[in-house]
Amino acid sequence: MSGPFSALVLAAGEGTRMRSSRPKALQEICGRPLALWPVHAALAAGASGVLVVQSPARPLEGLLPAGASAVVQERPDGTGGAVRAAAGQLDLALPLVVLCGDAPLVSAAVIAELIAAHAQAGASATVLTAELDDPSGYGRVIRDSSGALARIVETKQPGDADVAELEIREVNAGAYVFDPEALCAVLPALAGANAQGELYLTDAIALLRERGGRIAALRSTDWQVVLGVNDRLQLARVRAICQAQINEQHLRAGVDIVDPSATYIDVDVEIAADATIAPGTRLLAGTRVGERAQVGPQVTAIASEIGPDARVRMAWVENARIGAGAQVGPFAYLRPQTVLGERAKAGTFVEIKASEIGADAKVPHLSYIGDATIGERANLGAATVTANYDGFSKHRTTVGPDVRAGVDTTFVAPVEVGAGAFTGAGSVITHDVPPGALAVARARQQNITGYAKRRKERAADGAPPAHTRPPITPDL
Ligand code: UD1
Ligand code: CA
Repeated sequence: MSGPFSALVLAAGEGTRMRSSRPKALQEICGRPLALWPVHAALAAGASGVLVVQSPARPLEGLLPAGASAVVQERPDGTGGAVRAAAGQLDLALPLVVLCGDAPLVSAAVIAELIAAHAQAGASATVLTAELDDPSGYGRVIRDSSGALARIVETKQPGDADVAELEIREVNAGAYVFDPEALCAVLPALAGANAQGELYLTDAIALLRERGGRIAALRSTDWQVVLGVNDRLQLARVRAICQAQINEQHLRAGVDIVDPSATYIDVDVEIAADATIAPGTRLLAGTRVGERAQVGPQVTAIASEIGPDARVRMAWVENARIGAGAQVGPFAYLRPQTVLGERAKAGTFVEIKASEIGADAKVPHLSYIGDATIGERANLGAATVTANYDGFSKHRTTVGPDVRAGVDTTFVAPVEVGAGAFTGAGSVITHDVPPGALAVARARQQNITGYAKRRKERAADGAPPAHTRPPITPDL
């Protein structure tokens, strides 16, 4: 166990390389803004507090978890400037972990290791490094003849590093532990004497060493921890790694993910053991899946709850609750505030909005149900539709338990159908139906006998068929 520490996350950069109108700190990775990944990692590692440096637009306002707070860097004058902006609010009594807000793969475990290495070395600064096959864009680690870390050289702009330095494949991960007092003492000495004219935090390393400080390095064997996100390509790559890690955690916890490479699960999603997630499925925004549920293929579930033993196939489910043992799809659309009771069914080509479907009730085929309460065990025949909107406002349909709606029933809301009632196929129900009644609301059928024969005879006489209307004469 490492001792107490506090953390600082640098997330005030402009992120110009993203070419996005959205602040870089808010680019999303598996349902969490980029800059919040290191914040959560630091908290999970046991940080007593996390201070986040953000830009003057304050993009992280209201998004920080408990234990984190923000400070504004007025001008984006470099990572050194970001630390300067936070200096007044640092806890000088605790080792300070500094993380880049654009490096989401630095885990709680790595942070704990870094803290331990720092304490063990009695260092002024400890730097996390790793070797990359393609180190371009990263700060390179320069070691002295004894192998100790001497300084970090930047490579962003031509002129920052020389040819020999560019050959070095050991890079700075952008994760450090500092003795905060020593760090604050060298901050005023940082100068923008580089190709970018920025204040580089990495220059603090050489300055600390010049002043007799001890610099330690923790070289990670996992090259992925250093990966930073500066452009869209890196965003996509790092996102894929984060997703693979999330899927791996669920697999280890007993979730059957049939094809992890085709399954997208947000970081805040909960899935019980023995659930099966079939390919093409996206579980997003805090969705929860119960044990033995079968979800997918091709399901998108957003901020929804899928109960135990439920089966959801080819569906879009948003802010909805699916009860235990319920069945959804294939080809269903459950919109916000839909609640499917236990063992209920929303079948094929069915759209449901703001409605409760009672336990064991069924909406099996080709239906739109909006603003309705459907009682337990009710069965709505194919193409049952609620006419819930009169062009001005929405109205509710209430269908009692055990109701049987014939195919192609239209409920014109507001309307109430009593328990155990029936509707005839093709009925347009505009009035309440008492419990146990049969409501038939359609034109009566008329059979015109001998019609076909007479039609044929008229055609033989050269007369138009009986059903042909005379041409409409314009009324002048
Ligand atoms: C930085 C390191 C580099 C390291 C790499 C790891 C410096 C000078 N270089 O380079 O050695 O290999 O990270 O990913 O530190 N930021 C601010 N305010 C600013 C500028 C940046 O808060 O004025 C934040 C950014 O939002 C970002 C982080 O600091 O989250 C790193 O800045 P960035 O410009 O991306 O540095 P790199 O060029 O990636
Ligand atoms: Ca970066």
